[in-house]
Amino acid sequence: MTTIAYAHPNIALIKYWGKAPDQGNVPATPSLSVTLDTLVTRTAIETADADRFELDGRPVEDKKLAACLADLRAHYDVPPLVIRSRNNFPTAAGLASSASGFAALVTAIDGHCRLGMDAATRSTFARRASGSAARSIFGGFVALDGPDWAARPLLERADWPLRVVVAVTSAAPKAVASSAGMRLSMASPFYPAWVTSTHEDFRLAVDHVRNRDFDALAELAEHSCLKMHGLMLATRPGLVYWNPVTLECLHRIRALRAAGLPVFCTIDAGPQVKAICLPEAAGRVAAELRAIPGVIEILEIGLGSGASLEAP
Ligand code: PMV
Repeated sequence: MTTIAYAHPNIALIKYWGKAPDQGNVPATPSLSVTLDTLVTRTAIETADADRFELDGRPVEDKKLAACLADLRAHYDVPPLVIRSRNNFPTAAGLASSASGFAALVTAIDGHCRLGMDAATRSTFARRASGSAARSIFGGFVALDGPDWAARPLLERADWPLRVVVAVTSAAPKAVASSAGMRLSMASPFYPAWVTSTHEDFRLAVDHVRNRDFDALAELAEHSCLKMHGLMLATRPGLVYWNPVTLECLHRIRALRAAGLPVFCTIDAGPQVKAICLPEAAGRVAAELRAIPGVIEILEIGLGSGASLEAP
């Protein structure tokens, strides 16, 4: 019997970067995200004689995946599994493939082994593998904060159908994985200020989302992104995830907003640029970014649903 689960990546508007000193991959900062549609991880699971993992058709050894299985087995009866996972977008290039990957994995195992987890429990197991994965369990606007560090839905996608225009500027895997980068950043002199101020950013952003206040969210989300990249730059060795095209896209998006278009920019631990906008601005934003030399591809995406099982 094969069990199939799907999950979408999510994009943080208030970023998480850094871990709490406790065990269990607890983020140092709360975060707020939107789950995307169109981009998807599909994970198929079968019971087997020994664990085997294939990503995009190739056998791989993955320490985080092994740790996630061990974590589940410490709490539940989970037999050896063959896990086949596919992304319809580049893996490990700043498009949050680990978020959709672990959300789909935990959802598939829960369904396959009939573990009976609720969504908060799936979110907690996904978070212990990859912090951002906790948020991909839910659709629409999602918050991840303490004290329990399971994500929770804030607003349904239909209640504020923002669009996300992704400018892909490189298909290469990122140079420094986010967990390793976070560990380095925690020694930066900027780190304490980042953690303290992000708690306040998060509280305000939750209100802006609930009020559907685009302008206030735009200003705050762009600030959170640039503040995180400021911390990354002030890490030793400096973490520079951008390329020249990334910067060109950032300038273009800010110029469009200055000219009155409802759009703002966010960038994660990779060179891709995500322009978040009201639906009426998406066509113009996509055209402007497509015209920038070096932009490889433009994806125009809506907000998506949470992780789910394929109906048998
Ligand atoms: O949880 P990870 O390892 O995928 O790290 C996520 C880090 C950022 O994408 C840069 C920010 C975030 O909150 O998603």
